[in-house]
Order: sequence, then structure tokens, then C-alpha cells
Amino acid sequence: MGWLRQTTDSSIGGKLIVAVTGLAMVGFVVAHLSGNLLVFGGPQAVNSYAEGLRKLGALLWVARIGLLVMATLHIVFAIKLNLANRAARPQAYAVKTYRRASFASRSMLLTGMALLGYILFHLAHFTFRATSPELAALGEYEVYQMIVLSFQQPLIAGLYIVSMLLLGLHLSHGVSSLFQTLGFNHPKYRSLVGSIGPILGVLLALGFSSIPAAVLFGLLK
Ligand code: HEM
Repeated sequence: MGWLRQTTDSSIGGKLIVAVTGLAMVGFVVAHLSGNLLVFGGPQAVNSYAEGLRKLGALLWVARIGLLVMATLHIVFAIKLNLANRAARPQAYAVKTYRRASFASRSMLLTGMALLGYILFHLAHFTFRATSPELAALGEYEVYQMIVLSFQQPLIAGLYIVSMLLLGLHLSHGVSSLFQTLGFNHPKYRSLVGSIGPILGVLLALGFSSIPAAVLFGLLK
């Protein structure tokens, strides 16, 4: 297992782990948004989708455990890299000049931590239904009703919309950066790789936010 230790101890190995786990989670987020958008097709569409997912049984658990492992590796190695980068810089810069680094790239640790907080809340809210007795009382597959009841509360809808903006910000730098780490850094691809993150970030933030916004404005009820 010496090679494994060597890979995970090196900064390029750590970067690769952050990139590959990040890419896998982007795959989940895109699939999750596609499923969630079925809410616009009405209760039947989204509820039977949720039921179908549950009926995957063991396969669903494999995906859940895979996601948990991805998220843990992503966080551990991203923090390790961040600390190593700080240690490599003997003193904080006296004058901060951020000519090249974008706001999104400088705030990765912060948006990442906020997203972790969001995901923990989201699991308590929709997966464990532990945040309100009203949700706990719904039937197992009444996902449409759960979404509408939740987002009729402006505070919850607002919290989700702000979190989706943070997700968009995190991915706008993260996705471009992961493709660079994976070797797409030829000048030919530079502008494509540079735009893919911001484009995906905006699409995902808008797509996810459309759900709480539609409920809040009474389009879904
Ligand atoms: C408007 C935004 C979102 C809505 C309406 C939404 C909706 C849902 C619902 C209804 C469930 C529970 C499904 C069930 O147990 O039957 C769920 C689970 C989950 N969501 Fe979301 N979601 C949103 C955004 C996100 C985002 C941005 C992420 C990740 C960054 C995320 C990650 C998860 C995870 C990890 C689960 C648990 C999956 C499982 O139990 O297997 N969600 N979501």
C-alpha cells in the first residue's frame, strides 16, 4: 500500500482526489436536480420518482455510501491542501493583491463549509424529516407535499435559495479547476475549461432555486 500513501501524501495526489470526488458529486447534483424538477410535473410525477428510487433497495444504499465516502475524501483532502498552501506562504501577504484569483476561488473553503452545513440541514429536513412534525406525518412517498409545505415558509425557501447561490459559486470555480487538474490544460481547451464552471454553476443555482421560488410565488401548491 506504499503507493497509496505516496499518492495521498503528495500535493498532486491530494488534488487528484479532490478533483475526482468533486466530479462524482457534480454527477450526483445534476442527477438530483433532474429528479427534483419533476416537481413541476405535479405530485404524481415526483412522488412516483421518489418511490422508484426507494425501490432500488440495496443499490440505493451503495450510491448513498459511495456519496458519503466521496464527500468525506473531498473535504479531508481539500482542507489538507488548503493548510499546505497556507504553510508554504511564510507570512500572510501584507498587501493583498488579488489580480488573478477570482472571488469564487478565494472563497472555496468558506463556500464549501457553508455547503456542508446546508447538506446536514437538508438531510435532517427532507431525508429524516426531523425539522417539523408536519413533515414527519406525511406518507413516505409524499415528496411533492413535503416540498410545497416546506417552501411555503419564506425562511426555509430563503435559506435554500441562498445555499443554491453558494453552490453555484463553489462550482463555478470548482468545476473549471477540476478539469485543469485532470489534465485539460492545453491552450486549445483553456477558454472552454474556464467557462464550463461558471456556466454549470449558474445553471445549477437557477435550476435548484426555481423550486423554492415557484412555491414561494404560489406557482406550485
Ligand atoms: C431546491 C433544492 C433541493 C430540493 C428541492 C431537494 C430535494 C430533496 C428531497 C425531496 C430529498 C429526499 C428524497 C427522499 O428521501 O425521498 C433529498 C435528498 C437529498 N438531497 Fe436534495 N434537494 C435540493 C438540493 C440539494 C443539493 C444542492 C444537494 C447537494 C449539494 C442535495 C443533496 C441531497 C442528498 C445528499 C440527499 C439524500 C439522498 C438520500 O437520502 O439518498 N440536495 N433532496
